[in-house]
Amino acid sequence: MPRCSICSKPAIAYIRYQRKYLCRDHYIEFIEDKVRRALRKYKMVGKGYRILVALSGGKDSSTLLGALAALRSEFGYELVAVHIDLGIYEYSVKSKMAAEELAKKLEVPLIEVPLSEVLGTTIPELANKGRRPPCSVCGMVKRYITNAAAVEVEADAVALGHNADDLAVYNLKSFLSQDLEAISKLGPKTESVEEAAIGRIRPLYLVYEKESFLYAYLKGLPFLHEECPFVDHRQMEVKLKEVVNSLEEERPGMKIQMMSKLALRIKDYPKPQGKIGRCKYCGLITGGDVCSFCRLTKKALGEPMGPKVREYIRSKALKLGLIPRRL
Ligand code: FES
Ligand code: ZN
Ligand code: ZN
Repeated sequence: MPRCSICSKPAIAYIRYQRKYLCRDHYIEFIEDKVRRALRKYKMVGKGYRILVALSGGKDSSTLLGALAALRSEFGYELVAVHIDLGIYEYSVKSKMAAEELAKKLEVPLIEVPLSEVLGTTIPELANKGRRPPCSVCGMVKRYITNAAAVEVEADAVALGHNADDLAVYNLKSFLSQDLEAISKLGPKTESVEEAAIGRIRPLYLVYEKESFLYAYLKGLPFLHEECPFVDHRQMEVKLKEVVNSLEEERPGMKIQMMSKLALRIKDYPKPQGKIGRCKYCGLITGGDVCSFCRLTKKALGEPMGPKVREYIRSKALKLGLIPRRL
């Protein structure tokens, strides 16, 4: 049986790109150290920061919250999580359970936003009424609500659970279509735009998908193993993932190298142009007069729902004692 390269206990993982075996404890340390180094290297956090974690209930967001919680006293930041109940049948019921269990275990205050209660509808219904594919509606709704929550709790940054595998695929996809502006958004960190769009950080920037899964599993963090029923396996991303995986197979560490190099060059990519304004209904960021969320909800539900979402989150944050924020 292979032994840990550090302490000689039985190994549970082999890190190919570093040619080392690790036992359970050293594996956990290895991942937390990767997150620690990413937080430092890319200046993602500071003492006294309030970090809002988008908690879906899947493995990456569980690993993200688990690793950030493990490092919280070392860096002196505070964590708040937000979970959006999308109303996608059994999948959402189980995701919500995993998110609640995890937040409780790690003692992180959790703001829950059930769409059926706040909007009176769910993602499948909203997609139907808005005549758009569920995944695109869902992505937009999640981005909007996460940002709204970050604005309401006066977070300094939103932490996203994107891992190196996801990012390498987005990077390649954007490169193939020469969407250089999209690449400019794939760095480890984006800055806030006044108080209307809170900057995002990606602490799992250099963590592989498999590593993220193993970390959540070994630490006993609750997470949902199932995929969303709307995942489209014919998507270009799935094919590109196979390509990137086969390159990684030949050159272990390739994805991490790709993302580290991108982080160094990210400033050279063109940023999206156009005016940045405030939505006339909800006051959050938009490229026009009305944000995509208020536009979609007005079309599908007859009313722009941004203000209601903000109000709902504010009342939850008040009940949790998160606002007014004491600095
Ligand atoms: Fe949003 Fe699947 S999680 S559509
Ligand atoms: Zn060991
Ligand atoms: Zn709006």
